[in-house]
Amino acid sequence: MLCRFPRRLSFSALIVGAIVRFFIYWVIDIQPYKPYLVNETGFMDSHTLFDNFNNATGVKDFIVPNIIHFIRFQNFELGFIDYVVLKAAMRNHRPDKFYYHTDVKDAKCQGKYWEWVKKDRELWSRIEVKYLELPTEIFGQKLSDDFGIYHGSDISRLRILKKYGGIYLDNDCFVIQSLDKYRKFECVVNWDEDQFLGNQVIIANKNARILPHWLNTYKVYRIDEWYYNGGERPTVEILYRHPELIHRVKGNFGADTGVSSNVYADPQMDWRRLDIIHLLAGHRSYMDPNFNITPVLDENTIRTYPYPFGEMAREVLDIPHP
Ligand SMILES: *[C@@H]1O[C@H](CO)[C@@H](O)[C@H](O)[C@H]1NC(C)=O
Ligand SMILES: *[C@@H]1O[C@H](CO)[C@@H](O)[C@H](O)[C@H]1NC(C)=O
Repeated sequence: MLCRFPRRLSFSALIVGAIVRFFIYWVIDIQPYKPYLVNETGFMDSHTLFDNFNNATGVKDFIVPNIIHFIRFQNFELGFIDYVVLKAAMRNHRPDKFYYHTDVKDAKCQGKYWEWVKKDRELWSRIEVKYLELPTEIFGQKLSDDFGIYHGSDISRLRILKKYGGIYLDNDCFVIQSLDKYRKFECVVNWDEDQFLGNQVIIANKNARILPHWLNTYKVYRIDEWYYNGGERPTVEILYRHPELIHRVKGNFGADTGVSSNVYADPQMDWRRLDIIHLLAGHRSYMDPNFNITPVLDENTIRTYPYPFGEMAREVLDIPHP
């Protein structure tokens, strides 16, 4: 009985001491990241870390999971460009996983190019298919009939990143360099000088502060504009006021169509200096001045294709230079 009082006292003293110590730690430590870094997963999952995040230097450790996300609404077939894009991401970045998010029920990896993927064991073991409903409305506003699948994809990429974190890529984004250097930031977006941001590539921790804000910009939804909600509104409403919410990439994700269309036109193009290039696959018929000469790009036509895309594709497919 005699020992009880002092023991209790020392226990309270310990608690008070711990609280004081924590408080001091908290006040003194201007870089609050390290003490919380229990392990990579713990860090990635924390909800409160990004106040005062340095968007220019990032942190020392990876805080974005090494997952590449693609969205395949209403079409799960893998075409030649899709295949080249997948091989490039594997060869040049090497993610742990590829998540294919699709609304195609019972999506099967069938057809020539999926069969080729299956033969590459290292690649195939990384593929996961996840069912994802195509959104039909946002904040009670019905999505456009004409742009619905695109606007739905714009919205879904934000929701996917909010759920998992990772690297979102459009289906025609060819990865040229490892993206690991960007996995040390809260959120990375290509925002060229005097342009709206490019949403073809978004690299983010799932708790990135910009993601809920970005989704909230859809409270004003312009049904008849291709890129108002995709790029214009988040730039004007968020980035003009809070550029610190992203690590800004200028040019290196190849978002500028004036640059990226050169993969079909300019044999001298210095594409290797970029991290990613947007292949504009769906727009080639009118953006590629030589479209009529090679309307179909596949494993046969690519063998002698004289523009940079030929070299890029041959390299990731191990096809010898002609
Ligand atoms: C990492 O931290 C998370 C959350 O704090 C925990 O659930 C997980 O078990 C830890 N993993 C390892 C390998 O210690
Ligand atoms: C970081 O945020 C500041 C605003 O606080 C912005 O001016 C700057 O461009 C950003 N730097 C990068 C590399 O994104």
